[in-house]
Amino acid sequence: MERLQKVIAHAGIASRRKAEELILEGKVRVNGKTVKELGVKVGSNDKIEVSGIPVEREEPVYFILYKPRGVISSVNDDKGRKVVTDYFTEIKARIYPIGRLDYDTSGIILLTNDGEFANLMMHPKGEIEKVYVAKVKGIPAREKVKQLERGIMLEDGKTAPARAKILSVDKKKGTSIVELKIHEGRNRQVRRMFEAIGTPVMKLKRERYSFLNLNGLQSGDARELTAHEVKLLRAEAQKKKG
Ligand code: URA
Repeated sequence: MERLQKVIAHAGIASRRKAEELILEGKVRVNGKTVKELGVKVGSNDKIEVSGIPVEREEPVYFILYKPRGVISSVNDDKGRKVVTDYFTEIKARIYPIGRLDYDTSGIILLTNDGEFANLMMHPKGEIEKVYVAKVKGIPAREKVKQLERGIMLEDGKTAPARAKILSVDKKKGTSIVELKIHEGRNRQVRRMFEAIGTPVMKLKRERYSFLNLNGLQSGDARELTAHEVKLLRAEAQKKKG
């Protein structure tokens, strides 16, 4: 048995707090009866409705995928391109990616059917650290690297403090490999940050997501996260969110 607000949150309908509000407002029914008080517990056979719409329930599942380049971070694509869920055809649960990686970016992406977990991971205050390794055109000057760290003014505002390190330089080809650690997840953020300092990204890979890395995974491989890993991720985001 689980608390009603937790089941609603897991289904991705609302945060736990918002689910509590929905209950208090009389918008939630269990087996056809309106429930207006908190603390009610439900089992897997109970039929829950929010504003008249049935809540679909599934066991929560969590996966890490080593996304190859040339794959869309979505559950379907109207142009018929490969999507991340194509790597999970044998999984019955309706999973979706947590956040996104660009079509051309490879590396770690998490997938789940747990809406509450997905929201927590993407919460701006959750600040999960992501480590990107970029091959860039040119060799960023030390001051430009510092600028990446202090924050760059992009069209949607200044980026939060980050860590950046040049890992190697190919002087002949005029390219560098740079590691960038950020806590935000804005659209095309890493590419825009490097563009802003004059060294555009040629290739991008997300190598770490919190403590999760790609060890043991080949491009296109996926594995289920352990219960312990899920717990650690949740704890990290929760701690920072406060
Ligand atoms: N930043 C980017 O620019 N692209 C990604 O795919 C992820 C982060």
